[in-house]
Amino acid sequence: MNSFQYIFLLTICIAVISTGTASAQTGFGEFEEGVFSAPQVCGSCHTQNFEEWYGSMHAASNSDPFYQLMFSMASNDTLGAVDTYCPRCHSPASFVTGIDSKVPATIDIANASEMGVYCDFCHTIKSKSGMGNGLYISTPGTTKFGPWDDAESPYHGARYSELHTQSDFCSICHYQTHSENGVVIQNTFQEWLDSPYSEEGTQCQDCHMTPGPGFTRNPGQSTLIGPVREHIWTHNTAGGNIFQTSLQSPKHRALAVEMLKGAAELEMKTKQVTDESIVLAVTVSNTGAGHSIPTGSNSLRQVWLEVTATNEDGEVIDSSGRLDSAGNIDPGTIIYGSVYHDASGNVALKEWKAASLVSDNRILAGTSVTEDFEIRLPQGNAGPVKVIVRLLYRTVPQDFIDETFGGAAENVPLVEMAKEELTVNGATTGIPGFGIVISVIVMGIVFFLFGRRN
Ligand code: HEC
Ligand code: HEC
Ligand code: HEC
Ligand code: HEC
Ligand code: HEC
Repeated sequence: MNSFQYIFLLTICIAVISTGTASAQTGFGEFEEGVFSAPQVCGSCHTQNFEEWYGSMHAASNSDPFYQLMFSMASNDTLGAVDTYCPRCHSPASFVTGIDSKVPATIDIANASEMGVYCDFCHTIKSKSGMGNGLYISTPGTTKFGPWDDAESPYHGARYSELHTQSDFCSICHYQTHSENGVVIQNTFQEWLDSPYSEEGTQCQDCHMTPGPGFTRNPGQSTLIGPVREHIWTHNTAGGNIFQTSLQSPKHRALAVEMLKGAAELEMKTKQVTDESIVLAVTVSNTGAGHSIPTGSNSLRQVWLEVTATNEDGEVIDSSGRLDSAGNIDPGTIIYGSVYHDASGNVALKEWKAASLVSDNRILAGTSVTEDFEIRLPQGNAGPVKVIVRLLYRTVPQDFIDETFGGAAENVPLVEMAKEELTVNGATTGIPGFGIVISVIVMGIVFFLFGRRN
């Protein structure tokens, strides 16, 4: 074989291998517009699924005004390079049918393809061709993939899909790397994979497609013409987003609050008490999330401890982690989150500018972190000090929202994920307990009165 023949053969082999392995993910504009049925069509039989999905972040994943703003900024900054990247996950049906999704679509039948992540898109995903990044293989058509092997529908074919029953399915969009430099932007699936939940077989669906925290089953019918099943998967898929859901569905906002309150626990202990200060150890445990707290868009999400100490008269004597009048967190507060830098070494909240991950102190699934807090006491403080510690969450920093939306920005709502209280008796030295002296006098009076009666 001469060198020409050798190179020819090698080229053929490489071509065969690459088409074989990458039997690639569905590309931009691969299907005709209109191949997907609108959610309302599916909802005419699957009414419960539709109602749940309608107020969810999946339904809002393209119309979300915050996403739309970030998407158009990213598009401007990258001269259009992200135009076929962000929609892969945020408006997958418009991506595979080649529609420009920069026009925020309302949920209406005529605009089916421009909607967010919806029924017919998810239920016609056949497989995936890689890790995350929207690398799905989409097969729009009459066969709908789902969790049952015995489903019969007068409207469509039904086929069992193991993929849909596992976290692997969610990984398609809930693991994301930067389109240019490969930096991990969202790590939710990997965090779950590394957690005890994946080992014991608890899938994303077990927490996010059940009626609420605590793995509750939801018996019922998927449609009025279907049999009663042991579990119908709820489609609220509530997470932590109370900002966008506040605008679209009070029910979904309430479900997100419930998820956040079911995610973590707090414990507080006194470590040291002197005349000058009280040192407390506060432990935060991730007891309910199957991934880090926070997860997802973790360059934006903020979770932090607010500590407030008050004296007997209810006056604040020391605090940390509180908001100032502009809605920004006290400087010096420990915020659980990840910090990315852009190419010039400045903090990058805009994901498309991220060039490296510089820190990540989020609380891993099933683990705890302990922080020490020193409460400085005013001189001569002898009475008890009440300490309240709260674990707080918000989806995005206020100054970032103010800056990106300009003057018309909303106040980003806070959620109290957990709260603990402790009363510490102040000074250990000095007059030994003024309170004790009072109680001795009271007891004396009581004895005196009772003694007289007998
Ligand atoms: C993000 C993707 C996604 C979207 C959007 C979605 N589903 Fe599902 N759906 C699933 C997954 C995953 C399961 C199975 C979960 C499992 O087995 O653990 C499921 C289960 C089902 C089932 C099986 C039985 C049941 O009722 O639980 C039906 C029917 C269904 N979905 C219909 C719908 C309809 C109708 C919509 C739109 C209103 C919808 N789905 C939107 C992912 C999705
Ligand atoms: C005419 C009523 C009707 C319409 C419209 C309808 N379905 Fe169904 N679907 C059914 C019935 C009935 C079942 C079987 C229920 C059972 O076995 O519990 C079913 C089952 C399913 C399943 C479960 C399949 C499995 O094997 O696990 C999925 C997924 C599904 N439908 C998705 C959809 C989607 C997506 C749409 C819209 C494109 C849709 N359905 C429209 C009646 C309908
Ligand atoms: C086709 C892509 C895609 C698939 C598949 C997908 N998601 Fe999502 N999901 C999204 C997008 C995009 C958003 C965010 C929308 C936004 O914030 O604008 C989202 C939002 C969510 C949220 C809400 C997060 C919050 O902050 O409140 C949860 C929870 C969630 N998904 C869970 C799941 C689960 C569980 C699965 C698997 C059953 C799944 N998703 C499958 C794309 C997807
Ligand atoms: C053991 C239950 C559990 C499992 C398993 C689980 N989650 Fe969650 N998830 C939660 C709770 C509780 C929250 C709310 C606390 C938070 O935001 O971290 C949450 C929040 C989220 C959020 C919103 C994060 C934010 O703050 O914006 C997303 C997105 C999400 N989960 C996706 C997933 C995906 C994808 C999987 C599977 C790879 C998964 N979850 C597995 C319980 C779970
Ligand atoms: C691999 C899939 C994927 C790609 C690609 C992707 N996203 Fe997302 N995006 C998500 C998921 C999933 C969430 C929800 C995470 C959460 O709630 O914490 C999300 C959330 C967001 C949010 C937060 C929305 C809110 O209401 O808080 C913004 C903003 C956003 N994405 C912008 C973008 C932009 C801009 C691009 C392109 C540069 C992009 N995304 C590319 C999957 C993706």
